[in-house]
Amino acid sequence: MQVLGIETSCDETGIAIYDSEKGLIAHNLYSQVKLHEEYGGVVPELASRDHVRRVLPLIRKTVAEAKTKLKSLDAIAYTAGPGLMGALLVGTATGRSLAYSLSIPAVGVHHMEAHLLAPMLEEEIPEYPFLALLVSGGHTLIVNVNGPGKYEILGESVDDAAGEAFDKTAKLLGLPYPGGPVLSALAEKGDSKRFHFPRPMTERPGLDFSFSGLKTYAMNTVKAESDDDQTRADIARAFVDAVVDTFVIKCRRAIKETGLKRLIVAGGVSANTQLRAGLIELMEGVNGKAYFPRAEFCTDNGAMIAYAGYLRIKAGQTESLNFQAKPRWPLESL
Ligand code: KG4
Ligand code: ZN
Repeated sequence: MQVLGIETSCDETGIAIYDSEKGLIAHNLYSQVKLHEEYGGVVPELASRDHVRRVLPLIRKTVAEAKTKLKSLDAIAYTAGPGLMGALLVGTATGRSLAYSLSIPAVGVHHMEAHLLAPMLEEEIPEYPFLALLVSGGHTLIVNVNGPGKYEILGESVDDAAGEAFDKTAKLLGLPYPGGPVLSALAEKGDSKRFHFPRPMTERPGLDFSFSGLKTYAMNTVKAESDDDQTRADIARAFVDAVVDTFVIKCRRAIKETGLKRLIVAGGVSANTQLRAGLIELMEGVNGKAYFPRAEFCTDNGAMIAYAGYLRIKAGQTESLNFQAKPRWPLESL
């Protein structure tokens, strides 16, 4: 079975083909970073228009690279939510109409479920059940995963998502959008002993997160200190250390509560080297294991959509033609 995946929920057009026999046979990504850079963040209307421009050429390119034909596809998976409404509509309309014209099924995929499944595209994959830490630009979730589609949310962010906190803190340090990777690189040059940021919500029980206070803490530190390169690096380091430590503390707590020894980490922030190191160390310490997607599948991509769609089609999921894009779509409703 060959499934075409279409991702257009935010600022990346991602297209891929997953083959049930051969695995991932082609994938392409067009990033809109340059388009949004001068605005310091994603401009939704510009994002939608650019998806319209990119989506069909990228589908043609991916089909050609996979050495297949549109007619050979068995199903189409597209991101139906959560995300930016206009951007989602491009993938939804394209996926549904292409499937209709080819007389094959289409399935709307949940973007965060796809992130969660991205580590399954790697060689070494975890057995169910496992814990999933999902850290993207829009969501921060810790989930007990009992099987595909069986998600119990154990904790989530009560305010900013982890990626959002990275991006906002990067912005106030004068770093370009998207700030996460740049802030992380700057933190490598920082002194971890100079500033100590709080580890939010670790003093009280529970697995929820809060990151907006860290950004305020960073802002107050920026205001109080001299504006030089080393100080900026030291602030970046204190921020990253606080985020990583917070995730390590919460994941340790989730392991204790559930008894699970397998942790998958996915979403844009799972590309972060400091976070990966912290969580690998945590899991080794409990004789468990941490699983991550390869770096290019941490951030948005079509491969995870094709794979998540393949699993849903294989499980017999169908949908009617009036299925709609859902900018808000809770994972636990799946
Ligand atoms: O999953 P993703 O591509 O899109 C959403 O679904 O939101 O995540 C994007 C987020 C951005 O906030 C970006 O700054 C962050 O992931 N990010 C990182 C790194 N790479 C991407 N944050 C920290 N360190 C990184 N290396
Ligand atoms: Zn994403």
